[in-house]
Amino acid sequence: MLRTVVCVSGGGTNLQAIIDAVEAGKVTNVELVGVISNNRNVKSLERARNHGIPDICISPKDFENRDLFNEAFLAKVKELKPDLIVLAGFLVTIPPAMVKEYGNRIINIHPSLIPSFCGVGYYGLKVHEKALERGVKVTGATVHFVNDGMDEGPIIAQKAVCVEDGDTPEVLQKRVMEQAEWIILPQAIDDFANGRITVADGKVVRK
Ligand code: GAR
Repeated sequence: MLRTVVCVSGGGTNLQAIIDAVEAGKVTNVELVGVISNNRNVKSLERARNHGIPDICISPKDFENRDLFNEAFLAKVKELKPDLIVLAGFLVTIPPAMVKEYGNRIINIHPSLIPSFCGVGYYGLKVHEKALERGVKVTGATVHFVNDGMDEGPIIAQKAVCVEDGDTPEVLQKRVMEQAEWIILPQAIDDFANGRITVADGKVVRK
């Protein structure tokens, strides 16, 4: 069983999709060993507790500086001995030391078709605001491995979603979650856990 840690910052609907897929046997070979949040009062931690998964909060606000937070964050993650770390709406930059320690074992979900609408400042609802501002007709979601760049790691999966007339950022966000994120993130975890994907020359290869 792949020891899997999920990192979250907010509502945790992607976390819920992972939990549901594991419980339904759609994602196999995965044990959810912890959910880490940088915010104490988020629905995500409640979702973890409701399913008997240890919930942990570690916030940069409780540390004098970012280096001390990064050290403590890495130490907490190490305690859980993860084989895979999933960033499911985690809005904290992953410390370089963690990327080094868990190379090609950290995956992230991003709510656009990378390389569109990603990088610094593109997170959550902002991504959909920018997509609507630009007037794109198709958007979507991407699951990728995490490297030292922002949203730059090897792409595991993408799914396109249509933008419709009259969409608001909130409506588009919900459609992207329902039609893309909640599907491709659990699938990518299942692929990883069952050895169907690997990274070669900076790209994801399916076996
Ligand atoms: C999701 O849309 C996720 O793709 C996004 O935050 C949202 C979290 O929602 N992540 C990013 O923007 C990362 N750059 P959730 O807490 O309901 O899963």
